[in-house]
Amino acid sequence: MGSVTRPDTATKLATDVSTMFDEVSPRYDLLNDLLSAGNARLWRIATTKAVAPRKGMRILDVAAGTGTSSAALAALGAHVVAADFSEGMLAEGRRRHAGNALIEFVHADATDLPFEDDAFDAATISYGLRNVSDPKRALAEMRRVVKPGGRIVIAEFSTPPAQAVRVPYALYGRHVLPRVAGLVNREAAEAYRYLNESIEQWPTQTELAAWLNEAGLERVAYRNLSFGIVALHRGFVPKPPVVESKAKKPATKKPAAKKPAAKKPATKKPAAKKPAPKKPAPATRSSKPTTGGAA
Ligand SMILES: C[S@@+](CC[C@H](N)C(=O)[O-])C[C@H]1O[C@@H](n2cnc3c(N)ncnc32)[C@H](O)[C@@H]1O
Repeated sequence: MGSVTRPDTATKLATDVSTMFDEVSPRYDLLNDLLSAGNARLWRIATTKAVAPRKGMRILDVAAGTGTSSAALAALGAHVVAADFSEGMLAEGRRRHAGNALIEFVHADATDLPFEDDAFDAATISYGLRNVSDPKRALAEMRRVVKPGGRIVIAEFSTPPAQAVRVPYALYGRHVLPRVAGLVNREAAEAYRYLNESIEQWPTQTELAAWLNEAGLERVAYRNLSFGIVALHRGFVPKPPVVESKAKKPATKKPAAKKPAAKKPATKKPAAKKPAPKKPAPATRSSKPTTGGAA
């Protein structure tokens, strides 16, 4: 029996991560449904709502895998570019969605996207960012390729805030998940061991929100799904500042003729529209751990 790939969570080498997904690609979606007890479908619905796809929109689905996340967006009429660096996942996706003209599979690394600036109306990544060796760079790339005003939505496993959920969930991830996946095959068991390690090391909801702010996104917010097992984050690419034309500059008030020259009244400068502040704004948080609705 050949060796099974389990990437090192400290380095997440691109070759190891893509090889691991190549190995699990035929059973990836089945395992997701099984091990999430059907919740993966509900999380998918919430993510699609948060992206808010419409007919005619061009959406980038980063780390799209077999295209299950892309198909949900395309079902609402958007043209979806499903980008991934695992040839195995892409091949499986192309096979499954062969008849869907709205999904285009592209081989791409999230840290070096082969697209022009402002090429998309929105970008999203589901359960992919955690696997990327340099997630901050991937966020910067997503921001670069999305038009000003467009949104970026991230669905990722996260940290349940309540201990009553966090502890049993951690035990499930460490002990049950790899064993159940092992009933399918050895590759799946190793993949789910890696999944659990990578989730345990992944930043919390507020830390990830800070990363989105650092990437220059505005109106950053997140909401928990299934008690925080998954979190949906979103942010918008800032629109460029509106430059006021000289013609519109209001006339400065002339000092009254008889007033002493020393007390020249200060002229009031019109408030210039500034770009969104670079300083991270606090993320808002929904207290409702339900699915559905925008992130
Ligand atoms: C857990 S799957 C998610 C697939 C899909 N988004 C979904 O929701 O079902 C993670 C995917 O991320 C891809 N991936 C990880 N790192 C990547 C990178 N740097 N660039 C592109 N894809 C990457 C893997 O190949 C894999 O297909």
